[in-house]
Amino acid sequence: CGIVGYVGPRPSQDILLAGLARLEYRGYDSAGIAVIDEQGDLGMRKKAGKLAMLRDSLAEHPLAAGTTGIGHTRWATHGGPTDVNAHPHLADDDKLAVIHNGIIENFNVLRDELISEGVTFRSETDTEVAAALLGREYRASGDLASAFRAVVNRLEGAFTLLAMHEDQPGVVVGARRNSPLVIGLGEGENFLGSDVAAFVEHTRKALAIGQDQMVTITPSSVEVTDFDGNPVEAQPFDVSWDAAAAEKGGWPSFMAKEVAEQPDAVANTIRGRVQGDQVVIPELDGLDELFIGIDRVIITACGTASYAALVGKYAIEQWARVPVDVELAHEFRYRDPVIGDKTLVISISQSGETMDTLMAVKYARERGARTLSVCNTQGATIPRESDAVVYTHAGPEVAVASTKAFSAQITALLLLGLHMGRVRGSLSDSAASDVAELQALPEKIAQVLAEEQEHVAQLAGWMADTRSVLFLGRHVGYPIALEGALKLKEISYIHAEGFAAGELKHGPIALIEPGQPVFVIVPSPRHSALVHSKVVSNIQEIRARGARVIVIAEEGDAAVLPFADEVIRIPLTGAMFEPVLAVVPLQIFAMALATAKGLDVDQPRNLAKSVTVE
Ligand code: G6P
Repeated sequence: CGIVGYVGPRPSQDILLAGLARLEYRGYDSAGIAVIDEQGDLGMRKKAGKLAMLRDSLAEHPLAAGTTGIGHTRWATHGGPTDVNAHPHLADDDKLAVIHNGIIENFNVLRDELISEGVTFRSETDTEVAAALLGREYRASGDLASAFRAVVNRLEGAFTLLAMHEDQPGVVVGARRNSPLVIGLGEGENFLGSDVAAFVEHTRKALAIGQDQMVTITPSSVEVTDFDGNPVEAQPFDVSWDAAAAEKGGWPSFMAKEVAEQPDAVANTIRGRVQGDQVVIPELDGLDELFIGIDRVIITACGTASYAALVGKYAIEQWARVPVDVELAHEFRYRDPVIGDKTLVISISQSGETMDTLMAVKYARERGARTLSVCNTQGATIPRESDAVVYTHAGPEVAVASTKAFSAQITALLLLGLHMGRVRGSLSDSAASDVAELQALPEKIAQVLAEEQEHVAQLAGWMADTRSVLFLGRHVGYPIALEGALKLKEISYIHAEGFAAGELKHGPIALIEPGQPVFVIVPSPRHSALVHSKVVSNIQEIRARGARVIVIAEEGDAAVLPFADEVIRIPLTGAMFEPVLAVVPLQIFAMALATAKGLDVDQPRNLAKSVTVE
């Protein structure tokens, strides 16, 4: 869910709606705002559906203007996406409004307690329970901050909570546990947001607030305390994203814009991290012990980031000569993994807030592992919980389906592999040429975009009625097959599966029937004639069974021609770098197919970009 709060001299409604628009990627099944107007009355409006529904409703029946407000965009957990379940939730005779992100685990106990005191509930949400509890505490103490503190101390689970009360205009309180909240510092106005996107158009000065801390903002003050009320020093940081970077510009969708931005995303991720013909990541200066004396690396992530992790496994094993396992974050900690102080756990997360990944990192740390975060969002929770961070500099990614963050994540892992290899003294003589290949990537991505965009889009247009698409890859092409399938599922709602090409004959080949479209990512014969020939055999096997074969192969690879219905070309590059090029046509394909089906490319159904619940 996305959360925004404002106190200051300006009418809050527009600020809240603009903030929510920037946070809508975090969830978009309902939205709502509450505003304390000039008469000191609290007005509230909330609507199921995308933010546009709320905007329309406010345009038709405006709320009275006011300068204190909170807003929420929801991704449903407790209770379906209805008007009633949308946030804010009110209490204390509708004088008090609360919004919430996360899951309150002990809400049933609290709800029963309140019901026994005669409280009635309008919604099925855990949030309304928090609101009712705050109403009770406020009536007892008459002070919002201390009532709020009493409430957060009783909640278990994960939450970011914001609240305001009409008796205290000009005050918004917020708290966080296991869920994100940042403070934006303005001149005579202050902001709260799930991330900096919520307020970046107003201020680029921010404060990160820590775990189990709460904040009270007024137009002229920001006070951060722990849950016991002891003052704490919040960490200031400057936001390097500019507001324009999170605008759609002239592009038909954010996804189209973000696919096109990949040369920059990769170049910005490399920038400042190559010295001569070596990779030196300045943020890791003085942290060599993270990489020496380890006997194992585990990379943990979810979704697209987990496929970047799989590419990272090949790269780190090759260059740093240390065993690497990739673990889905939500699987990792619910067994008894063998980790300890000789394990380096690398997490990958665009948002830095994915709850599953955050919990895996905390678990690893508790078990004594060293932790390193690869993250795209400054001030996010996962990097703060890790020993070290390597930021991807992809810029804000708004479309739910990840594209430029993915290529930046792979880039960061390639950099990390070369950095670790240097530190561990395990690089071979060819490392310098790998560094050169890395630096050439942005231009080669631009070439794929320029040369294949139209071809692939046309292909997708022809295939708009397709009901199933398969993807095959081998070596680093395997994670790309998985990612190609995920993109298609996420935004075109077409059944898609990715396989390791060698696995085909062990089962999936039974799926092949005449006309079945299959994408095959073919590795370069220059790196391994053997692997290349195996993949070409796999192509023949499916072709013989009638598959419609779409091949992604490097320029000049003629071996694929006799068996391919379509050939998409990528420039020559090093073995580890092919994924960054091969994924681009698959992103374009998914996007064009979704567009051909008339779907919302940026906000696919049922998904949220940043899943801050487990
Ligand atoms: C969600 C999104 C995916 C994303 C995954 C990990 O499931 O829908 O697109 O890959 O989270 O997100 P993260 O922010 O941790 O990279």
